Amino acid sequence: MQDSFIKAGVIGYPVKHSKSPLLHEHWITRHQKQGAYNAIEVPPEKLENMVQDLIDRGYAGFNITLPHKQTIMHLCTDIDDTARAVGAVNTVIIEDGRLYGRNTDVFGFLENIRAAHPDFAFTGIHALVLGAGGAARAVIYGLIDAGAKQITITNRTRAKADDIAASFADLAAQHDCRLSVLDWDDRDSGDAGAAPAETDLLVNTTSLGMTGKPSLSYDVNALPSSAMVCDIVYAPLYTDLLSDARARGLRITTGIGMLLHQAKPAFAAWFGVMPDVDDLLEQKILKA
Ligand code: ATR
Repeated sequence: MQDSFIKAGVIGYPVKHSKSPLLHEHWITRHQKQGAYNAIEVPPEKLENMVQDLIDRGYAGFNITLPHKQTIMHLCTDIDDTARAVGAVNTVIIEDGRLYGRNTDVFGFLENIRAAHPDFAFTGIHALVLGAGGAARAVIYGLIDAGAKQITITNRTRAKADDIAASFADLAAQHDCRLSVLDWDDRDSGDAGAAPAETDLLVNTTSLGMTGKPSLSYDVNALPSSAMVCDIVYAPLYTDLLSDARARGLRITTGIGMLLHQAKPAFAAWFGVMPDVDDLLEQKILKA
C-alpha cells in the first residue's frame, strides 16, 4: 500500500558510494515533496526477499545499481523496450505490487549532450564508441535511436565489441544505421577514410581515465576539428581525454550530466514532477 509519504531508494551491493540519495533528496526538498530516498544494501542472495519487503513497505520504486541491473529483470512484470534492448534495468516503478522495469541511462546519455550542446544533431552522424560494457550498450542504443548513420565500436577485448554489434544488428538495420567494429589498437589511427578521421562524436564508455584506474591513451589529433568528445567518466570531471580535446578546440561533454539526467524520469515517475538539472546541483554532486 502506498501512502502520501513517497518512498524510493537505490539498491545495490555495495551501495554506500551511490550519489543518487543526494540527488533525489535535493529534488524532494526543492519540490517540497513529502518523501525520502535512501540507499539500501541488498546482497544478491537476498534480492527477491528484500524487493518484496520494499513492495510491502509501500515503496513507489527504486533505482538499481551493480550487481542487480540484469537479475532484477526476472522480477519485473513488464520491461520497457529500451531496457530490454540494453539488457539492463536501472529504474523500477512499483504499481499495485508489480514491478515495471525501465532503463533511463539511454535518456541520460542523450539528454546530457543535448543540454550541453543544444545545436548538436545526432541525425546522420558517425560515432566512435570506446568500450563494450554495460554503459556502451546504453550509449549505442541511444545513438541508433537518435538517428546516427554509422557507429564504430572499439574495445580492448574485440569479441565483446563483436557481440554488441551482433546484438544490435537488427535494430541498427531498421534505423538505417551501420555498425562496425574496429581493433582497439586502431582506435586513434586517423588516416583519411579511417573511422576516427570521420568521427562526429567520440564517446568513452570505458573506465579508463577514472580516478584510480589506468589512463586512457587517445590521440585526439586523429579526430576531425568538427568532432565532439564525450566522456562518461566524471571523476575527474575533466579527464585527460576531455582536456586534450578541449586544448585542441574540440567541443566536449563531461560525464556528470549523464548521472544527473538519467535520474530525472525516475524522479518524475515516483514524485510526479520532472525535475531540473542545474549548475548548483552539479556542483553539489561533484563535491559529495
Ligand atoms: P560498464 O558496465 O560500466 O560499462 P564494464 O562492463 O566493466 O563496465 O566495462 C568496462 C569497459 O572498460 C570495458 O569495455 C573494458 O574493456 P574489456 O571488455 O576489454 O574488459 C574497458 N576497460 C577496462 N579496463 C581497461 C583497460 N585497462 N584497457 C582497455 N579497456 C579497459
